[in-house]
This record gives sequence, structure tokens and C-alpha cells, in this order.
Amino acid sequence: MDIRTITVAGAGQMGSGIAQTAAESGFDVMLYDLDRQAAGRGIARIGKAISRSVDKGRLTEERKADILNKITLSSDLEDARGADLVIEAAPERMDIKKSLFRALDGICRQDAILATNTSSLSITEIASVTGRPERVIGMHFMNPVPVMPLVEIIRGMATSDEVFGSIRSLAQTLGKTPVEVRDFPGFVSNRVLMPMINEAVFAVYEGVAAPEAVDQVMKLGMNHPMGPLELADFIGIDTCLAIMETLYEGFGDSKYRPCPLLRKYAAAGWLGRKSGRGFYIYE
Ligand code: CAA
Repeated sequence: MDIRTITVAGAGQMGSGIAQTAAESGFDVMLYDLDRQAAGRGIARIGKAISRSVDKGRLTEERKADILNKITLSSDLEDARGADLVIEAAPERMDIKKSLFRALDGICRQDAILATNTSSLSITEIASVTGRPERVIGMHFMNPVPVMPLVEIIRGMATSDEVFGSIRSLAQTLGKTPVEVRDFPGFVSNRVLMPMINEAVFAVYEGVAAPEAVDQVMKLGMNHPMGPLELADFIGIDTCLAIMETLYEGFGDSKYRPCPLLRKYAAAGWLGRKSGRGFYIYE
């Protein structure tokens, strides 16, 4: 299928990063968010990221304007009617994803592809609320989307070969490397990453070391660009907890139990960078 117009549903850090990447690759993008102000913050985030490239002399002001002109904002999901592809980047909750996919299924053309950027939830279950499970697929980008080369591509039980092929070649057109993984909780990325982050939180919880020390060990000892707690703040403590819950429930294995301290931070609203405080404090 020839994909030209893309709706990104959800204008948070992942949605705005996906919209930026698609616009930079020449696609017409509609960035939708139920909350008009969130859509405004999303486009402001994109403008800021592109301005950094202009300041570094990598992009011209004209190119910046061209990219921004490719993106329109909407807070009305009906505007997704003309999209060839919708990429959903809503919060990591099955009820939210299902209600969005149910609505999109009623709005979008029969041949449109509905993709989800879920980081851990079942593609098969999300697809089950639509009348087109063969046109539903997982397309999991990494944060920050414009920088990270990976896209995990996940078929649901009914996803067609044609849709899989279209999405794999779209990922390449976006300058990413697609890697196919199976539809199991957390796929590969978060099945491996989140238990490491959770274990780092346990190390703080049990008084083994302070957050700074845990992060230093992993950065200096393992060459990670960010320590696991810095990364948890970057991803969002609420998202990390939601993913651990999905692993814990999905596998029924106690090795995935979320650290009580992770729960406490989420309950306190200490969600990391986005709330100004997590394991670290942000200006
Ligand atoms: N948007 C666009 N570009 C960004 C950016 C953003 N939000 N943040 C950084 N960049 C760009 C910078 O402009 C810079 O570009 P140039 O090299 O071309 O100048 C480049 O990235 C490097 O940035 P910095 O020099 O400012 O900082 P850095 O070298 O410390 O790198 C980082 C920043 C790329 C974020 C790096 O720290 C890193 O790779 N961290 C780990 C990120 C990671 O693990 N992501 C996966 C998270 S898990 C996930 O996303 C899956 C999930 O489901 C939870």
C-alpha cells in the first residue's frame, strides 16, 4: 500500500517525535490529541527540536518551515478520515487504546492501516476491538524518536503479510531499522530493558546505593549513555510501572514484580522529567 498521509494519535513525547520524523521524511502528518493544549505542546516540542538543528547549521530556516508546514494539528478524531495510516501513541493503558481503536475503526477508510506504538501491550487484543484485525499492527519506536534507529514491528495474530510489508518499508523510509518481534508482553525491548530499570530501583530501595551511584556504575562500567534511573525519568516513571505491570500480569512470574519504590514514585506523581521530579529534580 502506498502510504502518503499519516495521523499520529497522541501528542506526548512519543507522538510528537513520530510526527516530527514522518514530516522530516516528507509525509503529510496530522497530529491529533484529545487535549488541544497537549497538541500545542507537541508542535512546540517539535519546533524546538528542529530549531536545535538550525542552530547547529544542519538545517535552514526554509527547511524548518517546510517540515512544520507538513504537520497539521487536530483535536477532532474525525479528521483522521483521510489517513492512509494512523499511528497511535496514547498512554500505555489497554482501555484507552481499545476505545481509540474502536473509534478509529469507525472513522478511517476500510483500507487504512491502524498501527499502535504500544511498548508492551498485546497487539492481538488491541486489534480484536476492530473489524479489521488484519490491518492492525505494532510499530514500536524508541525515545527520542528522531534519534533512535530502532522500530520493533509486531504482528497481531491476524495481521496480513501485505500490512507487515508496508509497515516494514515505511520504517525504512523513515530512516529506521525495523526488527520483527513476536506479540508477547514487552516484546523484546521492554522485556529486557524494564527488568534492568526495576532492578536498579530495587538497589535504591534496599539501600545498596544512591541513584547517582547506580547510574554511574552502569554508565562508566557498562558504557550505557544514560544510567537506568536517569532513563526511567526520561521514559516516565508511570510508563515504566505500566510496562512492569504488563510483564508481571502477562507472564504471571514474580521475577517481574514492580519494585514498591517504583509504585511509590508513581503514586506521588514523581514521574520523572515530565513532572519535574523523579529520581532526580529537573528545572
Ligand atoms: N529530539 C531530537 N533530537 C534529540 C533529542 C530529542 N528529544 N534529544 C537529543 N537529541 C539529539 C541531539 O540534538 C544530538 O544530535 P547531534 O548529535 O546530531 O547533535 C544527539 O541527539 C545527541 O544529544 P546530546 O548531545 O544532547 O546528548 P547525548 O549525547 O547525551 O544523547 C540521548 C542523548 C540520545 C538521549 C542519549 O543519552 C541516549 O541514547 N540515551 C538512551 C536513550 C534510550 O535508551 N532510549 C530508549 C528508551 S526505551 C524506549 O523508548 C522504549 C519504551 O517503550 C519505553
